[in-house]
Amino acid sequence: MKHLPIIALDFPSGREALAFLDTFEEETLFVKVGMELFYQEGPAILETLKENNCKIFLDLKLHDIPTTVQKAMNRLAALGVDLVNVHAAGGKNMMQAAVEGLESGTPAGQNRPRIIAVTQLTSTSEDMMKDELLIGCPLQEAVQHYGQMAYESGLDGVVCSVHESKVIHEQISSSFLTVTPGIRLPNDQTDDQKRVATPAFAKAQGVSQIVVGRSITKAANPIEAYHQILKEWE
Ligand code: C5P
Repeated sequence: MKHLPIIALDFPSGREALAFLDTFEEETLFVKVGMELFYQEGPAILETLKENNCKIFLDLKLHDIPTTVQKAMNRLAALGVDLVNVHAAGGKNMMQAAVEGLESGTPAGQNRPRIIAVTQLTSTSEDMMKDELLIGCPLQEAVQHYGQMAYESGLDGVVCSVHESKVIHEQISSSFLTVTPGIRLPNDQTDDQKRVATPAFAKAQGVSQIVVGRSITKAANPIEAYHQILKEWE
C-alpha cells in the first residue's frame, strides 16, 4: 500500500482541528501540523493527535544556524512525530546538524523521525526566484541542487512539487522521499499555490507522499474529497 495522503491541519486552534478530524471514520489518518496550529497549541496537540491514532508530519520548516537547528531538532525528536523538515536553503552544515540533533534526541527504542528538506516552496515561481530572490538558475535546477544537498547531508527526502519528483528520483534514488504539497482536485481553486497537480498525476510521477490541505479542509464535503483523493492516489 502507498503511504496515506497527508492532510494539512491548517486550523487556528486544536478545537477546530479535532472537530474536523472527528468527522472521519478511518482508523488511521496521516496529518500535518504546521506553524499555525503548533504555535497556538504547543506540543500538547501532538499528544492528542497520537491518542487519536494519527501519524504526524510536524511541518515547522526549520532554518537557522546549525547549532540552533541541531538543538531544536533534539527537542522535536522527543515529541514522537513521524516526519519533520528544514529548509534546504540553510545549507549542508545546517542539514547535517539537524540529522545529528534528531538522532541524539530520539528516545532509546524508538525510530528517529524521518527528516526532509523544503527545496523551493510550491508557492514560489521562477519569476519570483529571479526577481525577488535573485536566483538566476531555472527553478527545476535549483530544486535538483537542493535535493542533492539534502541527500548528501543524510536527509530522507525532500518537499518539492509533483513536477520535480521524477527527476529527483532519477537523479538521486528512488527510495529518497518526495513529499509534494500543491495537490488539487481537477475543479479546485489553486489559491496561492503556483505549481499544482492532481493526486492521479502525482501517482503517475512516482511521488512518495502527497500533502493536501484546502482541497480537503475547505471542501463542501471533506470526507468525500478525502476519499476521492485516496481513490486517485491508491
Ligand atoms: O491548502 P494546501 O493544500 O495548499 O496546503 C499545502 C500545505 O503544505 C500547507 O500547509 C503549506 O504550508 C504546506 N507546504 C507547501 N509547500 C511547501 C511546503 C509545505 O504548500 N513547499
